[in-house]
Amino acid sequence: MAQHTSSSQLVIGLAGLGTVGSGLVNLLHMNKELIAQRTGRNIILKTVLVHNINKPRSVQLPASVKLTQDIHELTDDPEIDAIVEVIGGLTTAKDLIAQALDKGKDVVTANKALLAEAGLPLFELAHKRQRILRYEASVAGAIPIVQTLKESLASNKIKALLGILNGTSNYILSEMTAKNLDFATALKAAQDLGFAEADPSLDIDGFDAAHKLCLLIRLAFGVQYPFNAIQVQGIRDLQALDIRLASELGYHIKLIGQVQEINEPTPSLTAGVFPTLVPLDCLLARVEGSFNAIQLHANAAGTLFFHGRGAGDLPTASSVLADLMAVARKETPNNTGYFQDLLPKATILPQGAATSCYYVRLMVQDCPGILRDIAGCMAEEGISMRQVIQRVDAMPVKAPSHVPLVLMTHETSEQAMQKALEHIQALKLPHEPIVTLRVFNS
Ligand code: HSE
Repeated sequence: MAQHTSSSQLVIGLAGLGTVGSGLVNLLHMNKELIAQRTGRNIILKTVLVHNINKPRSVQLPASVKLTQDIHELTDDPEIDAIVEVIGGLTTAKDLIAQALDKGKDVVTANKALLAEAGLPLFELAHKRQRILRYEASVAGAIPIVQTLKESLASNKIKALLGILNGTSNYILSEMTAKNLDFATALKAAQDLGFAEADPSLDIDGFDAAHKLCLLIRLAFGVQYPFNAIQVQGIRDLQALDIRLASELGYHIKLIGQVQEINEPTPSLTAGVFPTLVPLDCLLARVEGSFNAIQLHANAAGTLFFHGRGAGDLPTASSVLADLMAVARKETPNNTGYFQDLLPKATILPQGAATSCYYVRLMVQDCPGILRDIAGCMAEEGISMRQVIQRVDAMPVKAPSHVPLVLMTHETSEQAMQKALEHIQALKLPHEPIVTLRVFNS
């Protein structure tokens, strides 16, 4: 067990001195008096784990702080009460958290990938050791959604939850929309400004949003929804033409993570991350740049909307420090938000049964009978059209005989849409791969 050095102090070890770790060091200094006023204790940083102790740092560490490359200097130090893990990744972070909990230390982490993909044993260990494992910063940076679901909305049954959970993707989509850029140009701009990583795949391929969605499902519904059961589609293949056509139809395309409870034939959940057309009169359509937002429907509170910074040094450190202050107040562990921390498995709607409205865009020849044949394929699967447009003026120069044909459907199942697309492919009419996107139906 950690030996609490003094009840007026909470001694911490910090793993990671990147953007979030440096933000925490600065915030601990900036809000030192407030921390003491709110918790009655001082939070003292003792040791910082880094990859390379010789690397120059822009953050000013107190002289008493020791830098180390050895995780045992955090986990085995009896004076350290709590560990903050902001190194990310699945290996060292997992060992560090497991060893810290095992040694009786409380843990604060921002590691959504670890908690989504391998969180269960850590929650079990925290439960067994009766330690606090808090993770507000792991979902949507500064937005206090984890505690909101665990506490402020604890009296509600959550019916549905959706959100913009990845700031990098939202920045790229906002730039594509506002400046009519193609994906590669907008990604490069995001990288030049430091929003997107050199390897941006976790963000743009939807996995970062899916990790956060996985944690939100656990908090909102009290079940384990396996990360690999979440359907994921990123924004890498989005074309400027579809962003433009969507805007003309009254929508913005956003990368939306969504979970819904379906009651028929049996109560089950369905979750996915998809580029989605969001009507311009929805608040989510107006979330711009690197911001995040979450909208949820609760059975007593009604619809709620949260908006804020999903990344960055101080915004993310704000959530990390709030968790540390809860540890300093010696709050009772409430790690999953449920009395039984060992949550049951989710009942998941069978693949293909989830329903949505769709935007389907094909490049086809502009001649008689084409629309009839394509609409026939949709009708064969019982899919009803809501709106059909053909944009002759949007004809690409290289293929002047082909035009974009857009079909907006009423709600249909994934399975029916998949079959209709197979029928259309068999007609050999489309000139390019068919673009199929979900349309948000509020
Ligand atoms: N890379 C994430 C984003 C922030 O772009 O939103 C940290 O999860």
